Amino acid sequence: MNMTQRTLIIETLNKAGKSVILKGWVDTKRDHGKITFIDLRDRTGKIQCVGIGQMSELTIESVVEIEGLVKERPANLVNPHQLTGSIEIEVKNYQILNKAVELPITLDTDGREIGEEPRLKHRYLDLRRERMQRIMRLRSQFLREIREALYKSDFVEIETPMLTKSTKEGARDFLVPSRFQPGKFYALPQSPQQYKQLLMTAGFERYFQVARCIRDEDLRADRGFEFTQLDLEMSFVDRQAVMNEIEMVVKQAVKTVGGKLQQEQFPVVTYQEAMDKYGEDRFDLRTEEEKENGTLAFAWVVDFPFFKKVDKKDVAETRDSKSGWTFTHNPFSAPLPEYETDHLAGKNTDKILTTQYDLVCNGYEVGGGSIRAHTPEALQATFKTMGYSAEEIESGVGHMLKAFAVGTPPHGGIALGLDRLVMLLAGETSLKETIAFPMTSTGRTAVMDAPNEASDEQLTELGIKIVGSSKKQSH
Ligand code: AMO
Repeated sequence: MNMTQRTLIIETLNKAGKSVILKGWVDTKRDHGKITFIDLRDRTGKIQCVGIGQMSELTIESVVEIEGLVKERPANLVNPHQLTGSIEIEVKNYQILNKAVELPITLDTDGREIGEEPRLKHRYLDLRRERMQRIMRLRSQFLREIREALYKSDFVEIETPMLTKSTKEGARDFLVPSRFQPGKFYALPQSPQQYKQLLMTAGFERYFQVARCIRDEDLRADRGFEFTQLDLEMSFVDRQAVMNEIEMVVKQAVKTVGGKLQQEQFPVVTYQEAMDKYGEDRFDLRTEEEKENGTLAFAWVVDFPFFKKVDKKDVAETRDSKSGWTFTHNPFSAPLPEYETDHLAGKNTDKILTTQYDLVCNGYEVGGGSIRAHTPEALQATFKTMGYSAEEIESGVGHMLKAFAVGTPPHGGIALGLDRLVMLLAGETSLKETIAFPMTSTGRTAVMDAPNEASDEQLTELGIKIVGSSKKQSH
């Protein structure tokens, strides 16, 4: 049969009386002896196909090509619940393109009753279910709206490296061994923070990226090793300008995909007010009724302390700080203008407020950013407060200090947690429902089995010796 002749199921609606070739999956099958009914499914919908004396050998989820006649159904047989319920296909001929064996998981439910492991092991099947198709398409459309709003606002999309140096976002790094320089390691980016700032030095003024970020964190329903940020940076702006820009983009994208906003203008709350009023800086402003009807209640939180005492239980924090003080959000931030003098002088550390702004929604932190230090002195002051010596500062962020000495404009930016936003838009409570191939709760990959052991040959090439048994830990 000719591949170019395929008709999509949605297109059969205005083809009554015509012959068509449909291609898709066997969604359901009812065998009535001489007559077999199947619902055929493609990306555009489903349609009933009727086979007289044929199709009884078809199995659910097999891929078939069907040649048939589009027929109006008699009024009493119209199915009002199906978009194509007023027509059906009288099958003339068909061909099995791929026969499906018995499925390891069912696909005709929302899948919530199935355990995480079988769902992720057979994710390519799990994604076929209606709920997952809807979420993945919502994610794609939401991202598209964000991109278009940013392009209209004169932003440039630029990619930054995945093999890089530690980026100090407050989590542990994932390390990648170098074969060319055995004993040395790249770090996977916890975010594009430093590179996006360097793009401001490079004169792009407005950058964005849909950026994959990788952090070795303790896994939770709202936190993965790997996640996606909508990352942006702007030159010659104050914090209000960045907040306005991202608020415009978020509102437009949320509304276009059918999301419901609680307030047209996002309320701005200081960190202190939030702690006094809600006891936390990720609060939920929704009423019970709004929780029921899927409303999104966004708010900004500003005026955070720049520094805090290290939490000794937090390994990354303890490692990053040498003085007992560490940053609360981002070491590359600038303090609010009225604290600049104290910050440069290393005075009143506990009182200094940062330019950080967090975007919260329905009790989750869905984004965060700040105006940055853009002079060598300001960045040096932050690391001095954290107890770094001049040599340590040079080896850690010397590249930034050099860039800040060759005409780096004042700049600031933000990153949105895309997975979290899609999770809230879709009314889900786990990030896994918004990611095509997420990891299991125990950090194993979907479908493919990682992490796994490297061969002796690979290890030798990398100059790595495993101490202790990795086999014991792998299951
Ligand atoms: P931050 O670390 O706050 O900022 O990250 C920005 C947003 O990304 C989301 N997020 C996560 N989502 C899923 N899993 C995770 N492990 C995870 N970690 C963070 C959150 C968060 O608000 N470079 C700065 C941004 C900037 O200053 O421009 C940064 O990465 O929704």
